Amino acid sequence: SPLHQFLAELPKCEHHLHLEGCLTPALVFKLAAKNGVALPSPEDDPAYASPESLAAHYDNFGSLEDFLQCYYRGLRVLVAEADFELLAWEYFVTAAEHGVRHAEVFFDPQSHTERGVAFDTVVRGFKAACDRARRELGITTRLIMCFLRHLPPASAAETLASAVEGGHLDGDGDHHDDDNEARRTITGFGLDSSEVGFRPELFADVYREAERRGVRRTAHGGEEGDPTYISGALDGLRAERIDHGVRLVEDPALLRRVVEEEILLTVCPLSNVCLRVVEHVGQLPIREFLDAGVRFSINSDDPAYFGGYVLHNFCAVQQAFDFTIDEWRLIAENSIHGSWIGEKRRLELL
Ligand code: ADE
Ligand code: ZN
Repeated sequence: SPLHQFLAELPKCEHHLHLEGCLTPALVFKLAAKNGVALPSPEDDPAYASPESLAAHYDNFGSLEDFLQCYYRGLRVLVAEADFELLAWEYFVTAAEHGVRHAEVFFDPQSHTERGVAFDTVVRGFKAACDRARRELGITTRLIMCFLRHLPPASAAETLASAVEGGHLDGDGDHHDDDNEARRTITGFGLDSSEVGFRPELFADVYREAERRGVRRTAHGGEEGDPTYISGALDGLRAERIDHGVRLVEDPALLRRVVEEEILLTVCPLSNVCLRVVEHVGQLPIREFLDAGVRFSINSDDPAYFGGYVLHNFCAVQQAFDFTIDEWRLIAENSIHGSWIGEKRRLELL
């Protein structure tokens, strides 16, 4: 499209990116061989015959649940600290090529600790990649630890305790000072996995503790769940952002509240098409959000699975909505303002 070069160069922030969702078929096979992890036999699941057949499977998910099965099965190849570092590093390299200047990335510690991988192995590996991204690519980063909502709240509480014991939440909570913020290895908490039936309010205790410790708060909501999953995250968890949030458009009063409270939605267009939330990008309420003053960023979610990294998502939105340069500048500014960074970094990005 004529705006492709402009979109490529626009300083982008990514806020909705699961590091485990960056596991490409090539990396699945490479790490399985290195770590001696058995993949499903091709008789049991023909998708695992080769990286190419696995890639073809990634293009055809029926729903969020269908995708999550594949996601949890694949991530079992991640075992050593170096595996986590490599996974995140490969993402940062591609993100830099796509014009990402600041990335706030999710990880799912319980998906690893449940398999016997130590919490600190995961965090150390991801942290090493974040430090390298800053040094070698000039990308600033934040780590956001997500709780899996299909597991009991007691498991989330144990995960919180691991983060506290490891000193990963230490910091004095001054969100305007970049140096203070950088001292905390884990900046925020999120909530992900199966949405419908696992209401946000179940996790009120760990989120209250997050707030007490000055940890930032977001939660997936309104992807497959109705708008009460969004209001539940705002009221029950005091979430500062909503991940996805596209079903907000079904509740005009809640939409006005999101505008007034300057809640950022982290929208993931290609993900929504892949997981059949909508049939095509043009059906997403992105024009409505822009016109109503809802702040949102555009993100890739699980790019290894959904056929595109962040610039692919920007271009898909442009193709569907044909925004003007000024509209794109507003989208980029809103995503900088919605980032969990201090004033110094904000001014650099603006
Ligand atoms: N985990 C990884 N990607 C996810 C998504 N899009 N929704 C919920 N949980 C997820
Ligand atoms: Zn997500």
